[in-house]
Amino acid sequence: MLIFPDQNFFFMSHKLGRSSFGDPANAGNLLSIEEAHALLNEWVPNERLRLHMKQVAAVMKAWALEKENADETTARKWELAGLLHDADWEKYPDEHCRIIIEELEKRNIDPEVIHCIASHGPNYFGVEPESTMDRMIYAFDELSGFVHAAALIRPTRYEGLEVKSVLKRLKSPAFAAQVSREDINDAVSRTNYSLEELIQFIIDHQKDVN
Ligand SMILES: [Fe+2]
Repeated sequence: MLIFPDQNFFFMSHKLGRSSFGDPANAGNLLSIEEAHALLNEWVPNERLRLHMKQVAAVMKAWALEKENADETTARKWELAGLLHDADWEKYPDEHCRIIIEELEKRNIDPEVIHCIASHGPNYFGVEPESTMDRMIYAFDELSGFVHAAALIRPTRYEGLEVKSVLKRLKSPAFAAQVSREDINDAVSRTNYSLEELIQFIIDHQKDVN
């Protein structure tokens, strides 16, 4: 899902209607990060939307390396899922998620990456997160945009941004009102981590992304 916290945003439900993605024979077949950026540049003219995906990618990659002991290839899967999860949103809002999934299937990309993208909004796409990578993108996608919104309203942005101030914003229904607190709670409850830990990790790893 895409969160633009400071815009009115009505997200239509786009159930994908299937639960299997990609071909197991393509395991380990990944885009390079350069190829993924090229796709983003072509499909996503909106700089802010690109930033959102780069932020989620940076957080995903850092999490894989720091918390999951991932090797380089696995970390690239996490990063690619983050980079591409909303790639079709700007050009194909009514078919969001389906188009990027089909593109990655056409390119014979690793099914784990495709499943991760397909399950990044279970309440919208109807695909349940299964792997740790799936569960983390769901949580980070929900929270990353919210943390960014909380940073943007401060004169010093991320500098000195504390978890407690993000938590305060979450408790204030008027702030980024269209961000579903229910989805955030659902996503966080599927991880083995607290909301506080995830927010701190996001602050630490997306603050320098541009
Ligand atoms: Fe997103």
